Amino acid sequence: MSGLNLVSTTKTAIKRAAHLLRDGNLVAFPTETVYGLGADATSDQAVARIFEAKGRPQFNPLIVHVADLDAAQRIGTFDKKSLALAHHFWPGPLTLVVPRTKNCPASLLASAGLDTIAIRVPGHPVAQALLQTLGRPVAAPSANPSGQVSPTRAIHVAQGLGHKVAMILDGGPCKQGLESTIVRATDEGTYILRPGTITREQIADIAGPLLNMESTPKRPQSPGQLLKHYAPKHPIRLNATSVEDSEALLAFGPPCPGKPKTILNLSADKNLTEAAANLFAHLRTLDETDCTTIAVMPIPSEGLGEAINDRLKRAAEK
Ligand code: TXA
Ligand code: MG
Repeated sequence: MSGLNLVSTTKTAIKRAAHLLRDGNLVAFPTETVYGLGADATSDQAVARIFEAKGRPQFNPLIVHVADLDAAQRIGTFDKKSLALAHHFWPGPLTLVVPRTKNCPASLLASAGLDTIAIRVPGHPVAQALLQTLGRPVAAPSANPSGQVSPTRAIHVAQGLGHKVAMILDGGPCKQGLESTIVRATDEGTYILRPGTITREQIADIAGPLLNMESTPKRPQSPGQLLKHYAPKHPIRLNATSVEDSEALLAFGPPCPGKPKTILNLSADKNLTEAAANLFAHLRTLDETDCTTIAVMPIPSEGLGEAINDRLKRAAEK
C-alpha cells in the first residue's frame, strides 16, 4: 500500500489538492456519502484519467460536484422541480440529473456523451473547501477500482487506488457510507435513478408523486444500465482502413488512405488516454458535418481502448 500521498486536511493540503486538480491530476476526497475520485471536470484529459485509474471497461457518466447552486446552474439547466429539490437538499447526498447548459464547460466525457449531466453539491466540509478553493466543477465517481465496493475511509482509497492518485485528502470515515440518491425530474414526472440515504418519501414530499422506472416505457437512462446511448445522426463505420471522399474520418494515429471531407484525430500518436478524452467531442463535431458516414479507424482493445471500442460499437449499432 502506498500511504505517502494520504494527507490530513489542513488548509495547505486543500490548496495543494486544488493545484493538483488544476494541473489535471486525480485527487481523492471525502464526501458525506463515500470518498470520491476527483478530476477537473472541465478537462477531457483529466476526466479520461478517472476511467483509466478505475479500470472501467465502459464510460459510465460521472457525477459532477460543485460548491453551490450558482455553480450548478452554470453547467445544468434546472426545471422547477429540480430547483425545489436543490434548495431543499443541497448541500447534501442528492444528485440531480438535468440537461447540460448550452455552453456547458464540463467535459462531454463526464456525461459519457449524453445531453444531461449529474450534479451534486456535497455537504462535507473538506469537499466544500476543496470545491470553493478550486472554483471549478469536479467530476468524481466513488474512489474504488471498478467492481469493488465504494470506499468510506481514506485507507480504503489508498489500498485500492493509492498509486494512481496524486493525493488523498483524509477526512476520516464517511458518515453515511451509501452513495447519493440520484433523481431525474422530467415533464412526465420524477424518477429515482438510484436509491440512497434520502428516501423516496423525502423526494416525493418536495417533488410530488414519483414515477416507477420499471413500468414507464419512456423512462430516462438508468444508472448502470445505460439504456440509451449517445447516438450520432450519421452511420458509423468501424475499423476503417481506407476512407471515401464523402465520409468524415475519425482517425487514430496516422490517417488511413483517402480524401475524406473532414478528419479529426483521436490521438495522432496513438495515446489511448488522449483518445478517450477526445472521443465524444470529436464524434459530435464530425456528426455536425455534411458527410455520408463517419469512418472510424481501428483502436486496440487494451486499457482504455476497451471502453472506447465499447462506446463506438454502441454508437454504430443503432
Ligand atoms: O455519493 C455519491 O454519489 C458518490 C460521491 C463521490 O459523490 N459518487 C458516486 O459516483 O457514486 P459514481 O460514478 O460511482 O456513480 C455515478 C452514477 C452512475 O450510476 C451513473 O450511471 C449515474 O450516476 N449518472 C451520471 N450521470 C448521469 C446521467 N447524465 N444520466 C443518468 N445517470 C447518470
Ligand atoms: Mg461507484
